[in-house]
Amino acid sequence: VSRAELVTVEVELTPPYPVVIGPAALKSARQELARQAGGGRRVGLLCDRRVAELHAARLAARDAFPLLALEGGEACKDLAHLERVLDFLAGARMDRGGLLVTLGGGSLSDLGGLAAALYMRGIDVLHCPTTLLAQVDAAVGGKTAVNLRAGKNLAGCFHQPRAVFADTSVLATLDEADFRSGLGEVVKSAWIAGEAALAELEREAAALGRRDPAALTRCVAACVRTNAGIVARDPGERGERAVLNLGHTFAHALEHAAGPGNVAHGAAVAVGLLLALECSAELGLLADRGWIERTRSLLARLGLAKTLGELAPGLDAARVRSAMALDKKSRAGGVRLVLPRAPGRIEVGVEPPSKLLDSLVAPGSSPRADQRP
Ligand SMILES: NC(=O)c1ccc[n+]([C@@H]2O[C@H](COP(=O)([O-])OP(=O)(O)OC[C@H]3O[C@@H](n4cnc5c(N)ncnc54)[C@H](O)[C@@H]3O)[C@@H](O)[C@H]2O)c1
Ligand SMILES: [Zn+2]
Repeated sequence: VSRAELVTVEVELTPPYPVVIGPAALKSARQELARQAGGGRRVGLLCDRRVAELHAARLAARDAFPLLALEGGEACKDLAHLERVLDFLAGARMDRGGLLVTLGGGSLSDLGGLAAALYMRGIDVLHCPTTLLAQVDAAVGGKTAVNLRAGKNLAGCFHQPRAVFADTSVLATLDEADFRSGLGEVVKSAWIAGEAALAELEREAAALGRRDPAALTRCVAACVRTNAGIVARDPGERGERAVLNLGHTFAHALEHAAGPGNVAHGAAVAVGLLLALECSAELGLLADRGWIERTRSLLARLGLAKTLGELAPGLDAARVRSAMALDKKSRAGGVRLVLPRAPGRIEVGVEPPSKLLDSLVAPGSSPRADQRP
């Protein structure tokens, strides 16, 4: 991929939609907005305030479209902000043919996607994700949600975007922790894709660490291809799509136990992936224990935490365990996990014995890890 090049991945749903990826994707988005508005559609922009200051000029001229800028991050994913976005759409006199465009991270696309699904029973939405996590994951696949006091993502629906424009050059301004967090989901995606994808990521680790635009474009395109293929086969998460939750039962519990905002989601996913590998090995499912060490060293090269202690020192194991039991993937009885057998061979619905889970999250574990040279 050369600097100027764009890669387009089609998400094969009905209707299909393109994910345009590369360092000039916002320019393509700008042309698309001009085309839509030229055709008589009303267009509204929902922007993360920080991203708007840094990058909105590349998407649209000032005052070209009605714009609502919100403080980004998890705090905007609530019912009060949902109401603000809906009022904004009404105030901009959007009709059913209107188009909402989001510019920001996964928080913004989750909020904006839900508002678009609700306004007049559903208008089109187009996402311009600006974090690595949103480019590889949140903005593709149509899941939307806001948080309730009772928990995260409890109110939402599926609403697929019409198109996604993932501009990899905007990742240059991301905070280090937010960038690393996206890399956690990248490692997960490579594990789901298979051995070749994992080897490619190992080769690209250094270039990704310096946020090389061409390497980022290749990486986002690879993850989107993997994730979009799975989403297209199972858009409503009735079966196969559950593999995308690899590492997530552990991750959600870690995030919950550490308290809101204390660990980045993708960083927790990276540790969750290692715990899933350990768990899989203990159950005799993992084809080769060598994968654990290889994944651990990949995470280290990407600057990600590899143990609970590194992720959140002093994390309370009992709280992690009780949070796991609450996970929505658990049915009556035990905790059901997504566990890897090998790269590209992921098992869903495995119920490990409770004792094993205790030992995995106990302080000083993962088991055996620290006895290795
Ligand atoms: N719908 C899904 O399928 C899905 C999947 C994964 C995650 N999510 C959701 O995504 C949310 C997390 O999103 P996120 O990690 O993208 O972060 P985010 O949207 O919360 O943004 C994190 C921070 O980065 C800043 N930021 C964003 N882009 C920037 C840029 N280019 N330069 C500088 N700063 C920038 C924001 O202002 C914010 O402070 C969570 O709520 C999670 O539940 C949804
Ligand atoms: Zn995730």
